[in-house]
Amino acid sequence: MNDQLTTIIEQYDPSLELDYASTIPSSWYINKDFYDHELKTVFSQSWQLAARADQLSEPGKYVTTDIAGEPVVIVRGNDGKLRGFFNVCRHHAAAVMTEPEGKAAQLRCPYHGWTYSLEGELKGTPDFSGVCDFDRASNGLVSLDIAEWENWIFVKLVQGLAVSLQDFLGEDLISQASGLQLKDLHWFERRHYHFDCNWKVFVDNYLDGGYHVPYLHKGLDSVLDYGRYMIENGEHHCLQWSPIVSEGVEEQTGAVRKGDRALYYWIYPNFMINWYDGVMDTNLVVPRDVDQTEVIFDFYFPDVVSDEARARNRASVAVGQRIQDEDVAICRSVQRGLNSRAYRVGRLSVRREAGEHLFHRLLYRDVSSLAADKRG
Ligand code: FES
Ligand SMILES: [Fe+2]
Repeated sequence: MNDQLTTIIEQYDPSLELDYASTIPSSWYINKDFYDHELKTVFSQSWQLAARADQLSEPGKYVTTDIAGEPVVIVRGNDGKLRGFFNVCRHHAAAVMTEPEGKAAQLRCPYHGWTYSLEGELKGTPDFSGVCDFDRASNGLVSLDIAEWENWIFVKLVQGLAVSLQDFLGEDLISQASGLQLKDLHWFERRHYHFDCNWKVFVDNYLDGGYHVPYLHKGLDSVLDYGRYMIENGEHHCLQWSPIVSEGVEEQTGAVRKGDRALYYWIYPNFMINWYDGVMDTNLVVPRDVDQTEVIFDFYFPDVVSDEARARNRASVAVGQRIQDEDVAICRSVQRGLNSRAYRVGRLSVRREAGEHLFHRLLYRDVSSLAADKRG
C-alpha cells in the first residue's frame, strides 16, 4: 500500500459511535488508487453474487460474469455439482466461455480450441504433442469458492481469507429469508441501470433509512409509513423496513406495492433484496470505474406465466424503473459535490443513517486489512 493510500484510509475513524460519527471522506469516492484497492480487497475477499440458481438448473448450464475485473464462469457438472472457475484459459489466457449464459457439453476455448470438462479438467489440446514437462492434470481451470443461498449463487475470488457464506450471512438473516419463501418466486426480468457515481454513492443512497424518500420519491412515499421506518443492523447486513399504508396512496405505485410491509435487505458490500408482499427485486451494484456504476436489477414474481400476471408484473417493473430514474440524477449530483473543494465529510442522522454507519465501518475493516496489503 502506498503512503497516499494509507493516508486516505486513515482519514476515517471507525471507532466513533453513530452520534459522533462522520461519513467516510470524499477521497474514498473519487480517488482512483483507492478504487483499485477496493477491487482487490472489498470485492475480492467478500462473497459476490455470480448467478441466479434458475440459470444453472441442470448439468451443462453455465453463466459467465466478471467480478472485480476477473472473468468468472459458473457451471453445473455432469455429477450435478455446481463449480466456479476463473474463466481464463490455461493456454494463453483467453476467456473460455464467451456467452453470458448457456448450455454446453464441454467448455471449449474459442482461441486455439482447448477443451475442458464441465468439472474443469483439461481434456483436449489440439496440435500439442511433443510438448515436454506439461502436466495436463494440473492445467485444469482454476477453481473458485462457491456457495448457494436461497435463489442465488455466490463466489469468492480470494480463497481461505474469509468465513463461509453461511457464517457471513449469519443465522438471523438466513432464518428471516427462509421465512419469506423466496424460492416460490420466479425470475421475470433483468434490467441494467447506469449511474454516474462511485458505487458507494448508490449504496449510501440505499442505506439512508428512507431519509430521501419523501423528497425524491413522492409515489413511493405515498405507500410507506415514513415515521415508522425501521433500521436493524446485523453483523454484515442491514434490514430497513416500513409498514405499507393503504390510504392516500398514489395510484400507479399503490396498484403494485401492496401487503403490510416492505423489507429492504442490504448485504455487505453490494447486494440488496427488496421484498413486498410476494414480490421481490434484487440489486447488484457493480463498480465499473471510480465514478461509474452499473446496477443490475432482477425482478421476481409468484406467477410469471399467465397473461394476466405478466401484465401486472410489467406494471410493477415500471414503478421500479421510475424510482431508479429519480435516483440517477441525485447520485450524479452527489458525485459532483464529492469532488468539490468545499466538501470532505458529512455527519449522519442518528434516526435514519445507522445502515450507512455500518457500511462505512465494514469498508474500513476491509480496505485497511493486512491481508490485502500483502497481496499488494
Ligand atoms: S488461449 Fe485458449 S486455447 Fe489458446
Ligand atoms: Fe431512492
